Amino acid sequence: MATDDYLVLQQAIRQRLGLDLSQYKREQMERRLRAYAQQHGYGNLDGLARALGQERPLGGELLSYLTIHVSEFFRDPDFFTRLRELVATLPQTEALKVWSAGCSIGAEAYSLAMLLLEERGLGRAHILATDIDDKSLERANAGVYREEDLKRVDHGRLQRYFVQESGQFRVREDLRRFITFRHHDLLRDPYPEQQDLILFRNVAIYFTEEAKTQVLQGFSRALAPHGLLMVGATEAILRPQEVGLRQVRPFFFARA
Ligand SMILES: C[S@@+](CC[C@H](N)C(=O)[O-])C[C@H]1O[C@@H](n2cnc3c(N)ncnc32)[C@H](O)[C@@H]1O
Repeated sequence: MATDDYLVLQQAIRQRLGLDLSQYKREQMERRLRAYAQQHGYGNLDGLARALGQERPLGGELLSYLTIHVSEFFRDPDFFTRLRELVATLPQTEALKVWSAGCSIGAEAYSLAMLLLEERGLGRAHILATDIDDKSLERANAGVYREEDLKRVDHGRLQRYFVQESGQFRVREDLRRFITFRHHDLLRDPYPEQQDLILFRNVAIYFTEEAKTQVLQGFSRALAPHGLLMVGATEAILRPQEVGLRQVRPFFFARA
């Protein structure tokens, strides 16, 4: 029987990059990998698997290519309107623990930080923002954005939270310091605990159903008793009770 070149590459990727592609939808991943192999002169999946063993820098680049990083500030503004309403219902007494899971270039975390600062003062919240892709995390940490990433940020917020530098916008330190950016793989690393709010948006699109279930169960355990999980349209949860969640409002879930 012929060997399955995708499975061989999947194993090389797991060994070299620690990324477990068996938890992502094969069709989309295979299509992307074949395109990458061709465009970068590796020919086919075998060639790419061999190169992974030899070319160190290829690893980070490939991981970045495989994960989709499209993001912007206040992406899907309706979500942020709903979020603003619900943040008001969270306890006022303690510092909130907030997690942007799959934060990409950090736009979601900084948008959250602005909203929390305006609603309750950021001294009373800390945001953990995590992603599997280190290149995105580098950009998030730098906090420097182009005008097009900021098209939903109004003039007042631009003035208040950013410094303009050579045609780009850098997040001010007084917003930046409430966010910790960290490498974290949702499919293998332990989850933080007692989270008051978790945002999980536009991340699970290529996860298999099993992987999505595993992640949602993890979030259910990671939530504080009154905590809320907010998901994106691509993370629809059809049977929340099966993953230990209950729906509170469209796109918002609490521990069952
Ligand atoms: C399209 S971005 C979404 C960014 C942001 N949440 C938003 O809605 O704008 C998806 C992010 O999920 C990350 N991602 C994919 N698989 C992941 C995993 N197993 N663990 C953590 N992050 C992952 C990707 O690296 C990418 O940065």
